[in-house]
Amino acid sequence: MARPAIAVIDLAAIRHNYRLAKKLTKSAQAFAIIKANAYGHGAVKVAKALEPEADGFGVACIEEALELRGSGIKAPILLLEGIFTPDELVIADHESFSLVVHNQQQLDSLLVAKPKNKFKIFLKIDTGMHRLGFAPSEVKALWFALQQCKYIESITLMTHFARADEINSDYTLQQLQQFKAAVHGLEAPYCLANSPAILAWPATHTEYVRPGLMLYGASPFIEPHEAAAQLKPAMRLESALIAIRDLAAGEAIGYGARFRCEAPTTVGVVAMGYADGYPRHAIDGTPIAVNGIRTRLIGRVSMDMLTIDITGLNCKIGDRVQCWGDQVLATEVAAASHTIPYTLFTGVTRRVPLTYKA
Ligand SMILES: Cc1ncc(COP(=O)(O)O)c(C=O)c1O
Repeated sequence: MARPAIAVIDLAAIRHNYRLAKKLTKSAQAFAIIKANAYGHGAVKVAKALEPEADGFGVACIEEALELRGSGIKAPILLLEGIFTPDELVIADHESFSLVVHNQQQLDSLLVAKPKNKFKIFLKIDTGMHRLGFAPSEVKALWFALQQCKYIESITLMTHFARADEINSDYTLQQLQQFKAAVHGLEAPYCLANSPAILAWPATHTEYVRPGLMLYGASPFIEPHEAAAQLKPAMRLESALIAIRDLAAGEAIGYGARFRCEAPTTVGVVAMGYADGYPRHAIDGTPIAVNGIRTRLIGRVSMDMLTIDITGLNCKIGDRVQCWGDQVLATEVAAASHTIPYTLFTGVTRRVPLTYKA
């Protein structure tokens, strides 16, 4: 007796995808990016599933890092945006968090800090994302300033790619070139590749990589891609039919009467809506599967329900529906909703219980 909407998280799939990242990068140090509650998959569960083999984890802020330490995760944890306020350095020191350093304020705090342990830092260089990081022209001066600081154990040089998911753009290679020119002559490891770069841009594979989306089994590319085809979807967003009705040609379904039946149509009502994280902007025809058979969304998604075409499928109330997972890829639903799988995964709301398969 429970609402049938659930998300089933396949931890073995996440381990498989992590291993694929390692294999493609010839065993680079791979920091599994598990910010935003592991892209909606449950950060602690994902960290525990990966900890025996993961080289470390990446999160967006100290609160996310503390949640992991609090649950017993001992592996290295990198704060991808570094500290937000100087007092966080004390916590980072105590908990041995590695830090991205992307601006002068963070650098100033670091240079005057007297930590108990030395920091491992990732110096972020802006090579074209134009969001965080120091200008390439500043890198050498910063490097030499950091060499003087006795509380720094290691410096890794880092950048982030803006268009690695665009296979036909050379922007990633331009960024790589900018990076190499900026760091030329400095003896340090590099940390460059996100998921699309791991999957499609081998020239970016260096000592450290940062797989995020690919861990969860979704392709970052619009077009089919050979390496991405080896990923295993880790989240199955499921629910069930709660009502069935037969409509005549010409009758309309749901808010705004967006879909009007062209022919006699059997409509299945599914307990899944935008308040669960299913995208409201999904168009008529968005793929969805019932009893393992792919069909289509028809009618506007409402808060708690959506409607699908089950004409001729012989369905009954209670039949299982997969919104995304292995039968319908999150990437397909994203494409039909003018969004990306990142927002689908992180948008699953707390009304949907996460259940885990080891
Ligand atoms: C700095 C940084 N590195 C790595 C990632 C992981 O990216 P992806 O999920 O595309 O692998 C992100 C994600 O936004 C990021 O901000």
